[in-house]
Amino acid sequence: MLRHFVDLLELSAEDARLLIDRSIELKRAEKSGNRPQWLSGRTLGLIFEKPSLRTRVSFEAAIARLGGNAIFLRGEDVGLGTRESVEDFARVIGQYVDALAVRTYSHSTILELAAAAEIPIINALSDESHPCQAMADFMTIEELRGSPRGQRLVFVGDGNNVARSLSVASALLGAEFVLCSPEGYQFPPEFRGRLAARFPGQTINHEPDPAAAVAGADVIYTDVWASMGQEHEAVRRKEAFAPYQVNEALLARARSDAIFLHCLPAHREEEVTSAVLDGPSSHVLQQAANRLHFQMALLVWLLADMPG
Ligand code: CP
Ligand code: NVA
Repeated sequence: MLRHFVDLLELSAEDARLLIDRSIELKRAEKSGNRPQWLSGRTLGLIFEKPSLRTRVSFEAAIARLGGNAIFLRGEDVGLGTRESVEDFARVIGQYVDALAVRTYSHSTILELAAAAEIPIINALSDESHPCQAMADFMTIEELRGSPRGQRLVFVGDGNNVARSLSVASALLGAEFVLCSPEGYQFPPEFRGRLAARFPGQTINHEPDPAAAVAGADVIYTDVWASMGQEHEAVRRKEAFAPYQVNEALLARARSDAIFLHCLPAHREEEVTSAVLDGPSSHVLQQAANRLHFQMALLVWLLADMPG
């Protein structure tokens, strides 16, 4: 069966649960020296229009640990959408690789690839979502705090790709999601509509006051104020987000056992201070490490029952 991993809104709650369980199992197996070679001889293609450390390297390491190999391309290497159409690219690359991870500016490129490709397409970050990140983060939450069900995740910052995927993952896994963003940086109506259609009856909690938002939080999460492609808005955004910095004073308003997460890369002293990022509540390195284990589970889920 051909599966894609483009948007968490298309994932079932059962599959979300299964992917988290498998990530944790694969991490345990690895720690006890067991590396199943389930994807021996398989090739993962990666095509990235934006920079990446964690996503690229964790995908390349994940397929290698499962016995396969990776081929990395920059968008400009192949002229995606310029040298030939996205559709032709998808049809051709599917003759060489077994799955393709894609990082793009426009989410519509990923949708076009998924519509044309006969291999699984993985969203490795778009302007709309970052599903691999959000799922790996819920693996981390489960490791640190047990089942996500009923936990309160407060996202302080931009209602962008990472926040959107975290809100969907929260709904899939039974967590409470609170968005704490300034006016103009909340979820767009189109996304809210899709969320409401997928999870009828669930409301998106929005609390614009950071101090009120973090009260009772189990998890406090933030991301950069200007994402890749928004650098030209950095000055305006710094002004709008200044009251939303996650610092020790804000953390002091949360429960004493609340954990801090950040997808990284971080802009220290902007959205988060070094005191918080490097402090005892922060688990950002475990979070980054778990990208690898989730990626392994995802590749197995997408490829293991597909003919090689
Ligand atoms: N968190 C994350 O996706 O990092 P990279 O941009 O380095 O891949
Ligand atoms: N929101 C950030 C996430 C980076 C992992 C960006 O899109 O640049």
